[in-house]
Amino acid sequence: MSASDAPSALEGSPRFELRIPSPADADAWFQLFDDPEVMRYIGDGRIQSHEWYQDFALRQRVLEAKSGLCLFALVRRRPNRDTVAGFVGLQPWTQPWGPTGRIEMGWRLGLAHQGAGLATAAARECLARAAASGIHDPIAMIDVQNRASVAVAQKLGMVALDEVDALSGARVAVFGFPSRAEV
Ligand SMILES: CC(C)(COP(=O)(O)OP(=O)(O)OC[C@H]1O[C@@H](n2cnc3c(N)ncnc32)[C@H](O)[C@@H]1OP(=O)(O)O)[C@@H](O)C(=O)NCCC(=O)NCCS
Repeated sequence: MSASDAPSALEGSPRFELRIPSPADADAWFQLFDDPEVMRYIGDGRIQSHEWYQDFALRQRVLEAKSGLCLFALVRRRPNRDTVAGFVGLQPWTQPWGPTGRIEMGWRLGLAHQGAGLATAAARECLARAAASGIHDPIAMIDVQNRASVAVAQKLGMVALDEVDALSGARVAVFGFPSRAEV
C-alpha cells in the first residue's frame, strides 16, 4: 500500500465522492462485483447480471429522489482519474426475512479498492447524512463470518444486537447502535 492509499489519508480531506448512481455506475458495479470473492458473504453468493445492477441503480435513484438517501456510488478520487470503487449507503431492508421496516446500511467494494479505509470513511459520511435526515438507528446485516464487514461496523460504533438465520442458511448478525434503538 502506498502512503497515499493509507487509511488515515482519508480522514479530514475526503478522497472519495458519494453520488446518486447512474447507469454508468451500474456498469462499473457489474464489472467490480463479477467476482466470487466480493460476493462470498452476500445472499447465496451468486454473481448478479448486468441487468440486475441496472435495475438496482434505478431503484437507488428512485429512493434518493424520495428520501435523499440511497446506496450511493462510491467514487475514489485519485490524482490522475476518479474510479468507481463500489457502493455505500442506506436503504430500507428489502428481504422477506429479517428486520422488516428498518433502514439498513450497506457497503460493497471491488477487490482492488478494499483495505484502504474507504468503506468506513464513506459509511461515516452516510451516517452523518442519515442523521441530518432524522435517521439515527440504522442497522447492518452481516454474515457472522464476514470479518472485514464486521470490522467496518465496529469501527462505526455498532455492536451485534442479535443474530438471525438468512434464507440462504447463513447466520447473520444484526449490527446497530445499542444506545439509539432496540432491535
Ligand atoms: C466489507 C468491505 C466493504 C470493507 O471495505 P474496506 O474499504 O476494505 O473497509 P475498511 O478498510 O474501511 O475497513 C476494513 C477493516 O476490516 C479489517 N479486515 C479486513 N479483512 C479482515 C479479516 N479477514 N479479518 C479481520 N479483519 C479484517 C481491516 O483490517 C480493516 O480494519 P482496520 O482499519 O481496523 O485495520 C469490503 O471488504 C467488501 O466490499 N467486501 C465484499 C462485499 C461485502 O462483503 N460487503 C458487506 C456485506 S455485509
